[in-house]
Amino acid sequence: MATLQAIKYSRGKLLVLDQLRLPHEHHYDEVSTAEEAFNCIRSMRVRGAPAIAIVAALAHAVELHNGACTATTPEEESRPTAVDLSNAINLLKVASRAAKIEGLAHPEAKEAILNAYILKAEEILSQDLENNTSIGAHGAAWLKQQYNASPDHKISVLTHCNTGSLATSGHGTALGIIRSLHSEGLLHHAYCTETRPYNQGSRLTSFELVMAAALFNLYRESQNIGAVIVGADRVVRNGDTANKIGTYSLAVLARHHGVKFVVAAPTTSIDLFTETGKDIEIEQRKKEELTQISGAVVNADGTVDTSKTARVAIADQRINVWNPGFDVTPHELIDAIVTEKGTVIKGADGKFDFSKILPERW
Ligand code: MRU
Repeated sequence: MATLQAIKYSRGKLLVLDQLRLPHEHHYDEVSTAEEAFNCIRSMRVRGAPAIAIVAALAHAVELHNGACTATTPEEESRPTAVDLSNAINLLKVASRAAKIEGLAHPEAKEAILNAYILKAEEILSQDLENNTSIGAHGAAWLKQQYNASPDHKISVLTHCNTGSLATSGHGTALGIIRSLHSEGLLHHAYCTETRPYNQGSRLTSFELVMAAALFNLYRESQNIGAVIVGADRVVRNGDTANKIGTYSLAVLARHHGVKFVVAAPTTSIDLFTETGKDIEIEQRKKEELTQISGAVVNADGTVDTSKTARVAIADQRINVWNPGFDVTPHELIDAIVTEKGTVIKGADGKFDFSKILPERW
């Protein structure tokens, strides 16, 4: 599978692919300050829990490298549900506090703190890529063993939400598992659902749309659908998982049809300070995302005119809309949580126990 690169970084320069313009245009915005990063994340030019955190961290790093700092304590969060962003900010704080400054004069001490901060931001980027490769390998190994998969007995999977290179530093989380299955010759077919906002499924995750329930009913046998694999914006202590709206209903479907339901999440998406999914803040999105659509203008010859954008009403503009960006899948419906440190399954008590992979945070 070809990979798109959402984030391009070299020290002092950060370029972010504008995902609102996909798939018609590949345009990178330069993001050089914390404020620009806030706006980029808020407007969803960059999206996906890991990518959001990386852009925030690197934008700070670029700003500090260039000798400025506009970052202030925000009055509101750019995207409240995904935990990766606050985990990244905590890592940056810890790294800068740990900088060795004993005996240094003020300018050198300041330099050491800034360097520690910048190095940590760069490590968050490289670590994410490493994590995704490991998630892919662990997830593919688990599914291979569950289904006795082989090149003669391939499995098909369904994914919901956007978890590939656009949502991460590269390779992807749930999509990382799918890539790994594919590279081992074990993947028959990958299906993806349509999601939102801004037609995430068709514009970003795939150009292929399927109705999941129909797919399970009609093709479960012939396509050998082995698993539903999704990403996560926040996995809490008992394993309840917030992910793209619609994930919960897929988990119910999967259980009904005896299909494994797998969450792929780097440990940066795990929040052990929150006990259950009831305490996760769910981002509410504006109603216009559902009552209007925008698109590029198609010329008479079928080419796309990227200089013009059309905004079209598709519902009565006076209606009210409940538009949560995420839902929470209870841990009871989840068969495995795949992290870069290994695959966690439930114990005899029906609970996920992360202490084996995260003893330092337990
Ligand atoms: O609302 P988005 O586009 O930022 O959400 C992206 C997703 O689809 C998430 O569920 C994802 O972050 C999960 S992990 C890559």
